[in-house]
Amino acid sequence: MKKLKEDVVLTGDRPTGKLHLGHFVGSMQNRVKLQNEYAHCFYMVADIQALTDNAENPSKVRENAFEVVLDNLAVGLSPKKTTFFIQSQIPEIAELTVLFLNLVTLARLRRNPTVKDEMKQKGFGENVPAGFLIYPVSQAADILFCDSNIVPVGEDQLPVIEQANEIVTKFNSIYGETFRKIQPILSRAPRLIGIDGNNKAGKSLGNAIYLSDSLKEIKKKVMMMYTDPNHIRANNPGKVEGNVVFTYLDIFDLNKIEVEKLKAQYRLGGLGDVEVKKLLIDILENIIAPIRGRREELAKNPKFIENLLQEGTEKARAIAKTTMKKVREKIKIDYFKPI
Ligand code: TRP
Repeated sequence: MKKLKEDVVLTGDRPTGKLHLGHFVGSMQNRVKLQNEYAHCFYMVADIQALTDNAENPSKVRENAFEVVLDNLAVGLSPKKTTFFIQSQIPEIAELTVLFLNLVTLARLRRNPTVKDEMKQKGFGENVPAGFLIYPVSQAADILFCDSNIVPVGEDQLPVIEQANEIVTKFNSIYGETFRKIQPILSRAPRLIGIDGNNKAGKSLGNAIYLSDSLKEIKKKVMMMYTDPNHIRANNPGKVEGNVVFTYLDIFDLNKIEVEKLKAQYRLGGLGDVEVKKLLIDILENIIAPIRGRREELAKNPKFIENLLQEGTEKARAIAKTTMKKVREKIKIDYFKPI
């Protein structure tokens, strides 16, 4: 057997909704691949992060904690290879966050492009919850509490990782070499457009195809997809650029020759939207059907999910305690023997 690499991989999802094709191509496929290459892999249910903009919605976060784990298991993350845990059950992450907060300025937090975008999208303005503004700091703690240095993420998360790396540099320069630089791993399609063609596919935007969608839902969403508004009749020449159906085919249809042929025909005229959409429906159904099937099976056994989360959380907590001992020593707040 090939020897597994010793670096530590960590990823997570906010439990604010079920996961969709954007997550799938953005980071989930990479997670599955990486768990076969690395000896230490962690998957975190980022419930504390989800609460930063859902404080008044604890039930939503609680219910979706189960759903995001189901989604990840269904695409192939294995609890034998990946340690699943829940962020809120590791208080050391909160402790590390508080210590990291002293290494970051408010101005820097406000400049983070990911946070800025999300604030705009959520319409926060000046009334942004403080916890939300500082979530990149808490995310640095999520990654560093277990000494992770490899993080598969979607493109939107790159500024968050960059900020985490600034924390690493600052921490090490003040308190001595402690944490490693974090390497983000981007996928082949780090950003997926929504079916409306306007935005990134998003849980809160209602423009995504979910890994749990039925064939009927997939059909409905593909049929709604934005194409070329000037391509009124099949015979008209059509535009492929900015046409969501072709963007999805580029990503999900592995038969590249077929895609090129269709594009040529569409540009020339003579290929109707419905025909290309039918092909895309078949391709997406082929990807989603097995995931949906495994998801339904797994959902029948909530005890299994609960147990794997509990075991994983205990393992992660033990690691967190070791890290915090080291960190407290470095910051000279190690007054007594560990309580
Ligand atoms: N911010 C990520 C998201 O919105 C979730 C997340 C929280 C995460 N902590 C993390 C991802 C640590 C990678 C590493 O999807």
